[in-house]
Amino acid sequence: MKLLHIDSSILGDNSASRQLSREVVEAWKAADSSIEVVYRDLAADAISHFSAATLVAAGTPEDMRDAAQAFEAKLSQETLAEFLSADAVVIGAPMYNFGVPTQLKAWIDRVAVAGQTFRYTEAGPEGLCGDKKVVLVSTAGGLHADQPTGAGHEDFLKVFLGFIGVTQLDIVRAQGLAYGPEHRSAAIEAAQAQIAGELFAAA
Ligand SMILES: Cc1cc2nc3c(=O)[nH]c(=O)nc-3n(C[C@H](O)[C@H](O)[C@H](O)COP(=O)(O)O)c2cc1C
Repeated sequence: MKLLHIDSSILGDNSASRQLSREVVEAWKAADSSIEVVYRDLAADAISHFSAATLVAAGTPEDMRDAAQAFEAKLSQETLAEFLSADAVVIGAPMYNFGVPTQLKAWIDRVAVAGQTFRYTEAGPEGLCGDKKVVLVSTAGGLHADQPTGAGHEDFLKVFLGFIGVTQLDIVRAQGLAYGPEHRSAAIEAAQAQIAGELFAAA
């Protein structure tokens, strides 16, 4: 089984989502020895913004692309292929300014591809990624679950994943991390208990 592990926090060793996404992957590996992990660090190796240049590159025949267009097209193809080939995906997703990190949005823009991850039919949109298992690690300084303030972060990610057909979604949540050291420790410990318990208890 191929597992794509994605981090997007810019906070390096101080990142809660990096710590927890790593622990999810370790627990998953312990539960399934066949797992092969592919790691993508969107903060260290950022994907450029989806732009007019991206569209022009995609629409230009391969043998007519200049170097910049060839780079753009290759980046799109490789990012999409990596996602499509994954059976499982772990996404570290901190809240920044009520949304997801710009680096994570840039990745989403490369994998939201009509005909590959979703398609439109006469009956409406159809997601094509129903075979993937996804674990979302949702971290935030404040408390946003089931609040309007969570719309651009966790709720957006749920909408996007649902749109591309993902139904096997687990959310590991550690929020209120900025409310003080005790609150931070308790939120991280609760998330760790969730990873060891309901997520991988059968291991
Ligand atoms: C640039 C930036 C913007 C942030 N914006 C918000 C925000 O809008 N709401 C919130 O609750 N926390 C916000 N935070 C706090 C982070 O969500 C919190 O630090 C969380 O731990 C981030 O996950 P990480 O540690 O994996 O990076 C922000 C942090 C940074 C660095």
